[in-house]
Amino acid sequence: MKKRIAIFASGSGSNAQKIMEHFKYANDAEVALVLSNNADAYVLQRADNFEIPSHIFDRHEFYQTDEVVDLLKRLEIDLVVLAGFLWLVPDNLLKAFPNKIINIHPALLPKYGGKGMYGDRVHQAVLDAGEEEHGITIHFVNENFDEGEVIYQARFRVEPGDTLEQIKFNGQQLEHLHYPKIIENLLKKYN
Ligand code: GAR
Repeated sequence: MKKRIAIFASGSGSNAQKIMEHFKYANDAEVALVLSNNADAYVLQRADNFEIPSHIFDRHEFYQTDEVVDLLKRLEIDLVVLAGFLWLVPDNLLKAFPNKIINIHPALLPKYGGKGMYGDRVHQAVLDAGEEEHGITIHFVNENFDEGEVIYQARFRVEPGDTLEQIKFNGQQLEHLHYPKIIENLLKKYN
């Protein structure tokens, strides 16, 4: 049976797009569900374009009920992939999918992670600090923001005069290139 992926995203979903493209014709894995806390998130349109079902939830459902966990179990999800998902993952979900929840972060963790560190804020902090190197991290998710075990990092040089837009673009290119492959490799390790 194909391994089944669920993607959580809060916004545009360009990473989700690359993952859905990657697995569209794959033999051994598929994206079975896209979930979002944001009814206006463009990722929902993207899921629709791939005819992948989606589920929208609110804070109450996510933090006070088991509805999301039950849905993931019912759909026999093997791997939970966070792709620009901005809420902390609650305990019931962590316990239901031990070592089966991964995230991507647009910096070289442990640098530039933690609550509130997402999107442009990360890249601005990197520029403000005068970093000569920047990159992305794919990691397992635990109860804290951006803290689980690192699975993979990719890096690039920050050149003198690089703008926020430039380093953001460089990071996105690396995210889009590596996230689908890392997911594929992880799934191969599961029986
Ligand atoms: C990505 O760059 C991802 O690394 C970041 O959100 C962006 C989502 O873009 N995630 C975080 O900052 C998590 N702390 P996308 O919606 O176009 O995939």
